[in-house]
Amino acid sequence: MQKIRPSVTPQDVVCAEVAAPPTTLVVFGASGDLVRRKLLISLLQIFKRGLLSEQFYLLGAGRKELSDEKFRQIAQQAIQESCGSVSVKQLESFIDKFYYISGDYSNASFYSNIKIKLDELDKKHRVDGGVLFYLAVPPFLYSTIAEHLGKAGLSCSDEAGSGRQVRLIVEKPFGRDLQSAVELNRIIHRCFDESQVYRIDHYLGKETVQNILMFRFANTIFEPVWNRNFVDHIQITIAESIGVEHRGGYYDRAGAIRDMFQNHMLQMLALVAMEPPTSFEADHIRDEKVKLLSSIRPLKPDELDSFFVRGQYGPGSINGRAVVGYRAEPGINPQSKTDTFVAAKLFIDNWRWKGVPFYLRTGKRLASKDTEIAITFKKVPHSMFLSAGLGDMPENVLVLQIQPEEGISLSFQAKRPGSKICMGTLNMNFSYQDVFGVTMPEAYQRLLLDCMLGDQTLFTRYDGVETAWQLLTPVIESWQNRDCSPYEYAAGSDSFAAADNLIESDGRKWRKLTGI
Ligand code: BG6
Repeated sequence: MQKIRPSVTPQDVVCAEVAAPPTTLVVFGASGDLVRRKLLISLLQIFKRGLLSEQFYLLGAGRKELSDEKFRQIAQQAIQESCGSVSVKQLESFIDKFYYISGDYSNASFYSNIKIKLDELDKKHRVDGGVLFYLAVPPFLYSTIAEHLGKAGLSCSDEAGSGRQVRLIVEKPFGRDLQSAVELNRIIHRCFDESQVYRIDHYLGKETVQNILMFRFANTIFEPVWNRNFVDHIQITIAESIGVEHRGGYYDRAGAIRDMFQNHMLQMLALVAMEPPTSFEADHIRDEKVKLLSSIRPLKPDELDSFFVRGQYGPGSINGRAVVGYRAEPGINPQSKTDTFVAAKLFIDNWRWKGVPFYLRTGKRLASKDTEIAITFKKVPHSMFLSAGLGDMPENVLVLQIQPEEGISLSFQAKRPGSKICMGTLNMNFSYQDVFGVTMPEAYQRLLLDCMLGDQTLFTRYDGVETAWQLLTPVIESWQNRDCSPYEYAAGSDSFAAADNLIESDGRKWRKLTGI
């Protein structure tokens, strides 16, 4: 494979990270899964890179009664389990700034206690910078906590001219449909200004997802062909080999459409298809994304089944290991009709994309983990090699590989050594790992740091979330009203007949899953 080496340019100076200002991080749901699996490790990485302020502390808040000491022990254990390379000394000085407070989320006194605790800890740690309230709790608690923070006077930035910035970080899923998302936005906006709200979609924190914008708008050679005149179709895939794991309770109420499609899939679609923003400013980018999402053609009720297909995994095997079907997973209703796979064909009704199909698919328990965006260009209009039997030549395909091996590849036809007309498909590959020799940072590192710095670029705005729900709510309602069962596919398979038909009826094929 041809290796590409980066050269050092004056722009490299832009790569220097900005350190976070003094920050208080209050995490609701502090003893939960997300904190243990993602947040602590990401914070530790920020700390190890010297980007966390000396004036920082974390206050964990939750229902469970825990002492500061016990909370630190739990945090230490979680970190050691997932991240071997940390010295005891380093870990201790990190965890030393962790505290815990317990209470009932729906009781006002919990929030007055938090206020008292914050005053005390602010003095101790001399923190007078930003306060981040992180909602790492089940979604039904988002509005309760946001309202209580408002009532307790904890949501106001710059209280008494202190210059302090208060921000609210909300995890996904943000709402279950259009109506609940609008309502949640309304409640949050009663206490927090939109400029204080950071709605997380962790895909936007992935380096390779951010690269979509750099690739498109920092080069001149791709934009001229990035439209209906040159592109035949685009495929966006997020395939996972894992099942629902221990998240059955949540997942069975969400399904792939809410868990992956409404957020990660549509965000990737927006980035790959939107118009160039005027600048790399948060609102310029978010304006373009919303404009793009609102240009997706809405579907008529009678055409839904030709544009959306849902599946659910049955028993099968992954990497030679037998696995149970979705309905036999812990916490799942044995008669569940929840989708673990969704495929869709979407059209964007604007000047650039009119008539170009976007095929999207995401599913659990598929053959491999593979996240990619593949742009397939149109075939040559006329083959001059027809007389040699080369009439139908493969299209050029540009693949933005997001996971598991991050990179970019372009396939093209070229002369192969041999007879006069001997041609083959070659791939030009760029691999992040080969070129930069680093493993990609966890998306939450980027996102947490940006919250501390007050940069909303990688967070979804209220209207972006609502526009995505606007598109999908009729689909979800139609499935519910008709009590539709999803198609069953065997765990470990690549696809299934109904999903294949969605694309094959247009004379195209899904790309083969190539991940691990
Ligand atoms: C989460 C979903 O948002 O993304 C999970 O809730 C899914 O169901 C996960 O497994 C996939 O993220 P990643 O980064 O592993 O592709």
